[in-house]
This record gives sequence, structure tokens and C-alpha cells, in this order.
Amino acid sequence: MLDLPHDWAIEGPFDRRFDPHTGGLDVAGTGWYRRHFRVASSERGRQYAIELDGTMANARVFLNGHDLGSRPYGYIGYAFDLTPYLVFGETENVIAVRLAPDPDASRWYPGAGIYRHVWLESTTDVHVAMWGTFVTTPDVTDERARVEVRTELLNRRPETARVTLQATVLDADGRAVAQAESDRAMGAQSNDKVNVRLDVPRPHRWDVDDPYLYSVLTVVREGQRVLDRSTTAFGVRTIAFDRSQGFALNGRPRKLHGVCMHHDLGALGTAVNRNAIERQLRLMKEMGANALRTSHNPPAPEVLDACDRLGLVVMDEAFDMWKTPKRPNGSSQYFDQWGETDLRDMIRRDRNHPSVILYSIGNEVPEQGDPQGWKIAARLTQVCHAEDPTRPVTSAFNQADDAIRNGLAREVDIPGFNYQARAYERIRRDHPEWIVVGSETSSAVSSRGVYHFPLRKYDKDPSLQLTSYDVIAPPWAYEPDVEFDAQESNPGVLGEFVWTGFDYLGEPTPYFIDGWGSKLDADWPARSSYFGIVDLAGFPKDRYFLYQSVWTRRPMVHLLPHWTWPGHEGQAIPVMVYTNGEEAELFVNGRSIGRKRRGSNPVVLPVGANVSPDGTFSTKYRLLWQVPYEAGALRAVAFAGGKEVAVTEVRTAGPPARLRVSADHTRLRADGEDLAFLTVRVEDRDGNLCPLADDLVRFEIEGPGRVAGVDNGNAATVEPFQASERHAFGGLCLLIVRPNRGEAGRIRVLSRAAGLQEAETLLVTE
Ligand code: GAL
Repeated sequence: MLDLPHDWAIEGPFDRRFDPHTGGLDVAGTGWYRRHFRVASSERGRQYAIELDGTMANARVFLNGHDLGSRPYGYIGYAFDLTPYLVFGETENVIAVRLAPDPDASRWYPGAGIYRHVWLESTTDVHVAMWGTFVTTPDVTDERARVEVRTELLNRRPETARVTLQATVLDADGRAVAQAESDRAMGAQSNDKVNVRLDVPRPHRWDVDDPYLYSVLTVVREGQRVLDRSTTAFGVRTIAFDRSQGFALNGRPRKLHGVCMHHDLGALGTAVNRNAIERQLRLMKEMGANALRTSHNPPAPEVLDACDRLGLVVMDEAFDMWKTPKRPNGSSQYFDQWGETDLRDMIRRDRNHPSVILYSIGNEVPEQGDPQGWKIAARLTQVCHAEDPTRPVTSAFNQADDAIRNGLAREVDIPGFNYQARAYERIRRDHPEWIVVGSETSSAVSSRGVYHFPLRKYDKDPSLQLTSYDVIAPPWAYEPDVEFDAQESNPGVLGEFVWTGFDYLGEPTPYFIDGWGSKLDADWPARSSYFGIVDLAGFPKDRYFLYQSVWTRRPMVHLLPHWTWPGHEGQAIPVMVYTNGEEAELFVNGRSIGRKRRGSNPVVLPVGANVSPDGTFSTKYRLLWQVPYEAGALRAVAFAGGKEVAVTEVRTAGPPARLRVSADHTRLRADGEDLAFLTVRVEDRDGNLCPLADDLVRFEIEGPGRVAGVDNGNAATVEPFQASERHAFGGLCLLIVRPNRGEAGRIRVLSRAAGLQEAETLLVTE
């Protein structure tokens, strides 16, 4: 017995025999899911369909032993008609879904199982087709917005149906603000497209700062009888792309401050959860991100809903591969048969989301190097335009010269370039008509709370961690500053999508980078990425504040490293300050170490030969001091216009004394889906975070709830995610609590560690 959505691979255990690309978890194998259900005799005559938002992977779906069909791509939503084989009354129906994810199919952790929601649709024999509503706003002024609602209707009757389609635009409070109708006589067993035009007076625009949503209520009637009803959220907004102005939302230029994200939710695996998705996206917004790239596949519908609601624009990406494999059993195997259908379905599903501004047909496809590669790019672009003429098409190219020479870049509306900060100028000069975007940037790597002295760049470290001074990136990549610089000097480039917002399972670069052999045994158990600006548990790394300092205006200042270095007394420790103020002053135990102006004495970073011939890069985005260590307080004060605008302080921690636990929210819905995220801090007796603490924390839960997962953000551990204990890492760990479905009550969580004062947390479920 289990609940959906479900990811069977996240249960573990981690094992070095499994693919390091997928995080040492066993994502391959065969799984069957079965659901038994009855349908009352009174329902006879209705139409039934099963909708699956995403199944990993190679799905085959059966009803009562009848093979309904298969769908290989794990990221696509699809449906099957159940009506022909459904039985009514006392007899049970059985839906069976067989999944058989291949080994060596993915470059990251894909999960395994029915990891997204599944819906049973019951309709009359005349109804709106799946994804049959397409809402556009072709003409928007301050006075009114023209809203066009195109609806695909199905008539499954053996005779003509005379129906009325009524579309009502509702504002965010549910008040009707426009209404129109259209009558139709639909032939027997036919489908028909109905177009309705409405005008919304004085429209409230959807924007990243004010994500206002309207919806269309569609009602299909036959006389007075309602045959179908559905609601489609949409937004009124204009998007424009210009070679010199970049991207504009509602007429206002907006540099895209984007992040790439994979779909896993850390300790929860890939099993879709609204809270976990929102938690990620809220953190990204607070950092100043305004854009998301769903690398490298169609996201869960919940992700786009959250972007609509929170105000993030989206590059909606379809594929990591076309025909040419990147992994032996990649989705390339079935590209010829399914590629176009998958792309078409993604667009039909996603085209009403105001957040979606770009479709990406692929990421770093090997066809960049193929003189015929442009043909696939052309075909896929055509599919996008046919399904949705309102959004441009992009593709992310890492081999810029190949993609240009072989015509792929020319076939999309807006070529995307990965890791080409130093080529924007040249590309734009050579192609004066192109609008380009930094579809993937930086790929810096770090471990939260880990600092290695002296400040230097290296390939790997025996600890399997990576220094958090934000100076390490693999050879094809570069530090965040390099991209900041390139974006600043190329205002027409639409912006960037950083690799990545969050750490994700799998791809533990730079570990295991050479492949899979005994010489890399030393890299085990590095099992998740180091690319995240935020770690796998959802705790921001220092890099978070570097982005915040460039992407936001509200005064902030951040300093690194922590200030607990017993044994290093007198040794010079590099101290970096990230601030959006103009200047900062640093104090050790109240004594000023000096004031520095951002930009005027650039910091030289050891970035590597890929960035500059001498392997250094001078950045104006950071301040750096070398401070002889003495225990106590390190304080940074930021100034703007000569005034103090922000301050931060770290103190040397004493020995661990207690646990402090804070929950993201304490009143929960007992719907089996709501989750509470509890952050556990190991503190000294004065409440300072103990940044070196790795105590084992044990959790006891009393009342109607259970552990959904534990984590600490350490990318190199095989401790299971489903457990009632976790070691702290850098003084922190995470407990995710899931209330039992349908049981209201109080949940008491006790967090304990040997020798430390315990902490109690109370949650209420309703
Ligand atoms: C890119 C690729 C990403 C990820 C990244 C790591 O080339 O598109 O999926 O592998 O490199 O730097």
C-alpha cells in the first residue's frame, strides 16, 4: 500500500555499484502499480480517462488486462481513454501501470515510479478535450485586454449535439469581468474548435512583482443542462524580446536573473510535492531570481502553477537529447517515434501559464556537431510555433561555433548559449539580427560551510567537499562573476540561467568526472551535485548572497567564512564580503580592519586558464581581506551614500550545547501532502551556530505524523534519506514531517543529540 506520487528509488540504499550519474541510487528495474476501484452503475454512459502527469519511465498502462498503450518519456504527461474496458457496478476495475526505467539512461537522478500525480477524469459524452483550452491575450492596453479562448470540444455521441460554450473571465477574487458564448451543432463522433473573444476592462497585469491571475470558467451546456465545466488560470501580460533592450515584461525591460533546476526535491526524491516545490522557488525569489529554466525536461504542472503564483518567468525545456544519445539508453532511443508528440503535448499542457515565456527544444544536443542537425531544429521549432505562436523558441547550445556553422542556431527564434560569457560580443557582432540568451551559466561548485585555506582553485579535494569561497568551476565553466561582467557589458543579452539554483541528486562533478572505473573509487560516496547555490537540504551556500548582492536592491551584506578556527590563531584567513552597498567596513572584535569600496580595488580570483590566460580573474563583485585569526566577533558593515545600510556578524562558537529547531510552518493540513520543514541548528550555549558540528541528531515523532525525509546537505554521504536520525553537517540538519492523511491533532517532535540540550517542536494538523 502506498501513496502517489511515489519514487521507489529514493528509498535507497546508496550503493557504489549503481551509476554515479544518478547518485548511486538504483533507478532501474521493473515496477508495477495497481489500483482497484469500483464505478457505480448509475455512472454508465459517462466517459472515463486516466491522466498521468509523469511516470518514470517506459510506462505501459492496462485496464482490466487490456493494454491501453505505452509512453516511454518519463517527463511527459499523457492520458488514456478507459471507457471501452470499464466495468460498472459491483465488479472491480484494476488499473495497472508497468514501469521499466532503463539503467544508464540519464545524466542526473531521474527517480523511478509514478512520481507525479494521477487523475481519474469522468465526463459526459460531450466535453472539452484534454488540454483543449488555449487562452491568449493578443492585444493589451491599459483600458482593456482582448482575451481569446480557443476550445477543442469532443462529441462522442453517435448523433449530433447542439451545445453552447460559455466562457467567463473571473478576476482573482472570482468576480466575473467578461463573458461570451458560442453555439455549435457538433456532428456525431466529431471534434470541433470553438473560438470566443472577450474584453477585460482595465486589466490587472501579471508581473514578476505582482503575479495577478485571472481564470476562464468554461461551461458547456445543452439547453439548460451543464455537460462540462473547467477552469483555466491565465494572466494578462505582454512579453517582448529586443536585440538592444533585451527582454521586456509589460513593456518594462527585465534582465533575466534565472536559475536552472532539476526536478528532484532532495530527500523526497522526485515525488512531486507542492510545499517542497514552493520552498525551493521562494528561496530563489528571495535571492533575486526572476526566472527558472526547467532543465532539461517538461516540469511537473505544480512547478508552473507555483511560478504563476509566485512570479517567476519560465524557460520551459523539452529535451536533453534528440536522436543522438548522451547516455547508452537515453531518451534518444525513442526520439524518432515520440519526439514530436512529446513536444506537442508539453506545449498544449503549458501554453496557458503566464509564467512561460520561452520554449526550449533541447539542451546541448550532440546534433550541434552534425551538418544535418538544423533539420531537427527546424522541425521542432515548427511544432512549437504551430501549437503556440505567442512564444519564441530557443535551444541551449554549448558548442556555439558548431551550432552556428551547422545552422541549428539559425533555426530557433532566440539562440541560447551555455557557458559562452566570453563569446556574447563576438556572436552578436557576427549575427547582427540575433537576440541571444545565456541559457546556462557559471556551474560553480561548493559545499555549504566548507572552507579550505589558502584561497585557491583546485580540481578535487580528498574530503569530497569543495571550498565555499566560490572560486571553483569545472573547465567548461566559470565563476558567477564572469557572467555578471558579461551581462553588464552586453545589455542586449536577455540574461542568464545559472547552473543551478539547488543542488540535485546525481552528477557529483568534479567527482567521478572521468567516467566509471576503479581509479575513481576514491570519489565514492560523492553522490549529489555541488553546483547548487542552495544545498540539497535547502540551506543557502555563500554563493546565494553573491547572487543576491548583484540581483537585488534591498540593502544586504554577507561575510564568509565562519569564525570558528581553533588552532589557526594568528594565521591570515581570507574574509570575503558580498554586499549590494557601495562600501563595506570589516571589524574584528570591534577594531576596524579597513573600509573597501566595491569595484575600486577589484579582487583577483584564481579562476583557471579557461577564463583568462594567466588563470586569474579580477572581480568587482566581491570585497576581500586577509585577517589574522583571533577568536571573537567578525563584523561587516555595508554603506550606501555614506550611510550604514546593513550589518552582519559571525562569532566564534564555543562547544555544542543545545539543539534549536525551527519549523517553516506549524499549522498543517492533514491532507497527506502538506509537509513541515524543520531546520535543526547545533548551537553553543550563547546561541551561536557551531559551524563544525556533525552531531548525530535523533528524531522522535508523537502524534499523527511521520518522517518524510532527513538531510543535511552533505553531498558525500550514504546516510539514508528515510530515517529518524541524521548527522549535522556544518552545524545543520533537516527533518521533513508529513502529517497523516485525515487525522487532525498535535504532533510533537523531539530532537535529541548526545550531550546536548534537546528541542521540542509542536505542530498542529487540521
Ligand atoms: C552542462 C549541462 C548540464 C550540466 C552542467 C554541469 O553542460 O547542460 O546538464 O551537466 O553542464 O556543469
